[in-house]
Amino acid sequence: MASVPSLASSLHQRIADALSAALPEAGAADPLLRRSDRADFQANGMLALAKKLGGNPRELAGKVVEGLPAGDLIKDVEVSGPGFLNITITDEAITKTLAARAADERLGAPLAERPGTTVIDWAQPNVAKEMHVGHLRNSVIGNSVVRLLEFTGEKVISRHHIGDWGTQFGMLIQYLIEHPHELDHKAGGEVSGEEAMSNLNRLYKASRVLFDADEEFKARARRRVVDLQAGDEETLALWQRFVDESKIYFYSVFDKLDVEIRDEDIVGESGYNAMLAETCRMLEESGVAVRSEGALCVFFDDVKGPDGNPVPLIVQKSDGGFGYAATDLSAIRDRVFNLKADTLLYVVDVRQSLHFKMVFETARRAGWLTDDVKAVQLGFGTVLGKDGKPFKTREGETVRLADLLDEAVERASAIVREKAQDLTEEEIAERGAQVGIGAVKYADLSTSAARDYKFDLDQMVSLNGDTSVYLQYAFARIQSILRKAGEAAPVAHAELVLAPAERALGLHLDQFAATVAEAAGEYAPHKLAGYLYQLASLYTTFYDQCPVLKAEEEAQVENRLFLCDLTARTLRQGMELLGIRTPERL
Ligand code: ARG
Repeated sequence: MASVPSLASSLHQRIADALSAALPEAGAADPLLRRSDRADFQANGMLALAKKLGGNPRELAGKVVEGLPAGDLIKDVEVSGPGFLNITITDEAITKTLAARAADERLGAPLAERPGTTVIDWAQPNVAKEMHVGHLRNSVIGNSVVRLLEFTGEKVISRHHIGDWGTQFGMLIQYLIEHPHELDHKAGGEVSGEEAMSNLNRLYKASRVLFDADEEFKARARRRVVDLQAGDEETLALWQRFVDESKIYFYSVFDKLDVEIRDEDIVGESGYNAMLAETCRMLEESGVAVRSEGALCVFFDDVKGPDGNPVPLIVQKSDGGFGYAATDLSAIRDRVFNLKADTLLYVVDVRQSLHFKMVFETARRAGWLTDDVKAVQLGFGTVLGKDGKPFKTREGETVRLADLLDEAVERASAIVREKAQDLTEEEIAERGAQVGIGAVKYADLSTSAARDYKFDLDQMVSLNGDTSVYLQYAFARIQSILRKAGEAAPVAHAELVLAPAERALGLHLDQFAATVAEAAGEYAPHKLAGYLYQLASLYTTFYDQCPVLKAEEEAQVENRLFLCDLTARTLRQGMELLGIRTPERL
């Protein structure tokens, strides 16, 4: 494992050194280096600096050029315009750096020197409820962020804060007591996720009807909530049956989504039950929370309702019940003090931003969150239908996640079937799933999480444009070239002159590690997705312009195979960090 400095960072260092030598009073100044169309890189830093210190930028740029060491890295550097530097890298440096990346399993990406512990709250559906497109987002984004963070060496603990507690369970449990065989499974028969959910739906609807129509049932259901909260054994055992039935369903959807969830990481709202009273007591004793109309509340100067009155965070209701906030505050105590987190990350809908703002602030006042602990909500936007409104069925109901995934897989399978005639039905099914699910995930990950996006299956499974299918095809095409290469192997030849398309591809390949670091650091998988799309596009151009197996000399064949191979490995690693499969053949 060897971390490989990128050409951009080496160049940055050299220019920064030359700059501080030319202008010692500038201190450690940023040369503002970026990729450019005119040369490989452009440095703009001299402009601002000369302006600030009252010098002539072109003169300063000239001095920097004189101070730059010639040779291995820089082929050409010129002062242009009002005082930019245009810099061209040597072909040799490009190929050598790429060879160093290729020699490393991690493609030269460094591991964090002092990794921290992040507890990430993601994939949190609700018991006895259908999963919808919102759960698609917290699962897909969460999964990619976990992968990105783990790749950087961070210790990551997942917490699936499922909604498995609350008054609705009184109604469900009471109904089950009165209709005892409603959740029974046929002897020896395995229940599918779909069956599990339809059982739960049936029960939910039937109990709801009774609850609304029958005052006596309603009273019994309310008493059942009290029993549940008091930890009555029979009641808890029945509650557990709902949780278990729901888990059968959750796991079937996660399985479809190709997202791995570990049972020990599912710590739902109920998991913090034993802490709730203490959490409230601590808040009240420290004065962070106060009684207001019987409820225990935390107030904020900047949180007011439309009427101008303050809107408090309610940690305990006036009837003594604990809500969502008490649970989240208890979870913070657990995550900081027991799990020793230094970062708390929540992949949750932006519509819960106010909740998290108030919860974090409360935890800071209580001293549970200190300056050493970062708490971040990675808030995601809404999934919209083609009409730009929140995604609904034609009947106006929320769209079931499982149905969407099935449809995506169906469409992708049709494409796979049409393209590859020599595949068996089994292979078509497997690849159809990899392409279809990949398409849904990629569409979700390729725009920044905070933004809403339109769920458009036609666009998602399209072979052209910014889709995972395009990336998967690029990968599969490279694999096919590598298979056809026969005796010829991918070997880097640093002495070769590179064609423009090879240089462009090479310089982009070199940015992989830096891109991953940025995407992980900002919890921004979309930056990685954008990078990969550009990589596939640059590869397409390279493939059009530079014959690989039919190149003139053997060394060139080998070097181009080397570029193909490194592109494929980079694509695969990048897609893996997004949680998307890259089939060898398509
Ligand atoms: N179950 C909630 C929902 O479906 C999300 C839970 C988010 N996590 C948390 N710690 N509050 O909206």
